[in-house]
Amino acid sequence: MDMKDKYKLCVAPMMGHTDRHFRFLLRMISKKSMLYTEMVAANSIMYKKDSHSKLMHSNEKPVGFQVAGDEPKTLADSVKIINKYDYDEINLNIGCPSKRAQAGGFGACQFDNPELVATAVREISKVTNLPISVKTRLGLNNNSNYNDLYNFINVVSNENVKVFHIHARNAILKGINPRKNRSVPQINYEWVYRIKEDYPSLIIIINGEISLIKDIILHLDKVDGVMIGREVCNNPFILNDIERLIYPETKVSNKQDIVKLYLEYIINNINKYEKITDFTKHLACFFKGTIGSKHTRAYMCHEIKYEKNPIRKLEELINKEAVWQQDGLESNIKVM
Ligand SMILES: Cc1cc2nc3c(=O)[nH]c(=O)nc-3n(C[C@H](O)[C@H](O)[C@H](O)COP(=O)(O)O)c2cc1C
Repeated sequence: MDMKDKYKLCVAPMMGHTDRHFRFLLRMISKKSMLYTEMVAANSIMYKKDSHSKLMHSNEKPVGFQVAGDEPKTLADSVKIINKYDYDEINLNIGCPSKRAQAGGFGACQFDNPELVATAVREISKVTNLPISVKTRLGLNNNSNYNDLYNFINVVSNENVKVFHIHARNAILKGINPRKNRSVPQINYEWVYRIKEDYPSLIIIINGEISLIKDIILHLDKVDGVMIGREVCNNPFILNDIERLIYPETKVSNKQDIVKLYLEYIINNINKYEKITDFTKHLACFFKGTIGSKHTRAYMCHEIKYEKNPIRKLEELINKEAVWQQDGLESNIKVM
């Protein structure tokens, strides 16, 4: 696959969602999308013993590891550890607006310091051969100066960063929480298009509130790729729909088959460190629109962990044809 094709379809890094189990599930639905881990702070890779589970993957390649940190040297040291886990890319988070990120001096607040980000990239590239990409926002707070974004991309791309994922809105650092920061301020795709025009040799991936196939077609006309977050959590099969559009030879995914394969994966991977719900919570969205879906979803996220033999219960549920009847087993391309 050439470099541009690799990024046409990306799944956004999402804490609490894009862990290795969800990525394994997504990879069965979509063979070609680029996947990302949840954000992990460099400090926690360096000093927290429990970070190992976040570093592992289930061979769902290609997958990029998203890291964040305030200190170029610590970031580079954390990447030395990430190197051992065979990821395909290092992605630097310059978009997280949370209080924790601000207190740690990483994430969106670094947008105002492109030189520091460039130094971080330089230090990281000394310790890894992996490509380094950057996920950022359009700017900070109520700043509406395009030149700041232009300058950020200029300074950082001079360190050989070729790929930028741009969440097409500013980050608001005070007064609203990260959740609200994903719906306000208003989305502004035009600036992302403009960055692509100003930097035609960079790979620019657009992100933010993208959920309709017709919009994806329009974006792909202007930039190199789309990155989708929440819609993939609600409806992972959108990845198969998009992939069929981009690569017409792609087969239609069958929900029930995928859930059966995931059950095998659970059986082979569950261990004493993980709860059954760490795996099954990702299945909740598969049952949307099916018979008894509300109950089934609550069961997948919580109640199943109280079962004596949860695997057997899951098997019974998955094999019950009636459960799958309401919405049919195959996904349909929804254009509107
Ligand atoms: C639950 C949740 C967790 C997120 N965690 C991260 C994260 O770890 N790193 C990151 O760069 N962005 C994170 N984001 C932001 C998404 O990557 C994405 O930029 C944002 O949701 C906008 O895309 P969407 O409208 O397609 O969801 C998160 C978003 C959600 C909904």
